[in-house]
Amino acid sequence: MAAPATAEPTTHPSGVPAPEGSVDVTVKIQRFNPEQDSEPHWESYDIPALPTDRVLNLLINIKSYIDGSLAFRRSCAHGICGSDAMQINGVNRLACKVLVKDLLAKKGKTTITVAPLKGLPLLKDLYVDMEPFFEAYRSIKPYLIAYGNEPTRERIQSPADRERFDDTTKCILCAACTTSCPVYWADGTYFGPAAIVNAHRFIFDSRDEGAEERLDILNDAEGVWRCRTTFNCTDACPRGIEVTKAIQEVKRALLFRRV
Ligand code: SF4
Ligand code: FES
Repeated sequence: MAAPATAEPTTHPSGVPAPEGSVDVTVKIQRFNPEQDSEPHWESYDIPALPTDRVLNLLINIKSYIDGSLAFRRSCAHGICGSDAMQINGVNRLACKVLVKDLLAKKGKTTITVAPLKGLPLLKDLYVDMEPFFEAYRSIKPYLIAYGNEPTRERIQSPADRERFDDTTKCILCAACTTSCPVYWADGTYFGPAAIVNAHRFIFDSRDEGAEERLDILNDAEGVWRCRTTFNCTDACPRGIEVTKAIQEVKRALLFRRV
């Protein structure tokens, strides 16, 4: 039996193919070219989009069909690598996880605004310098610390002990939490939520022996005590990690020095 015919996409005036069922949206993007601009500015693109498209699809279409100079990061396109965090309609999200249908206006034409993460140095368009973020991450020693002789077999851990830090193992280092934090915006020296989440992942790991070292680091002036519990970080996390709860647990561990 012959396969049912599918309609060929027509070409929209923007040059972007318009598949059947697509709607017109305006994507307003903060642009910045350090070789030409002294300040960022907004540019709008009227393009077709399917309700099931992710915002990442729209950015790829704009780059592919309208302006190849548009700069943004992405890799997996499936919410795993953490490279395409950006502000979408003013909220930190992964562009590959936000569906157009969840942004469509009930009436009138939809405008989707896209801007880079706030609080990290802007390099170009949606592309920020992640180095300050990773510097804070490295400073909390995000690896297993163990002393003494190397074990001759794997380090055993009970399911209950593994559960203790399960939530914080889910971090994909996207920086959505840290760059939604007003304390981080105000003073880039604060470690930020993501570094504390990743410290939590090892501090509460029964196989790790570096908890005291990490707690000393986080007890610093730039450490956990800067957190004002605004919950922006928990709301921003695309992995659903209870970021504020993890920070509170690290604070409690510092107060009682018992982990
Ligand atoms: S805690 Fe969540 S928001 Fe923060 S870096 Fe990890 S995955 Fe991203
Ligand atoms: S591209 Fe990997 S998380 Fe979005």
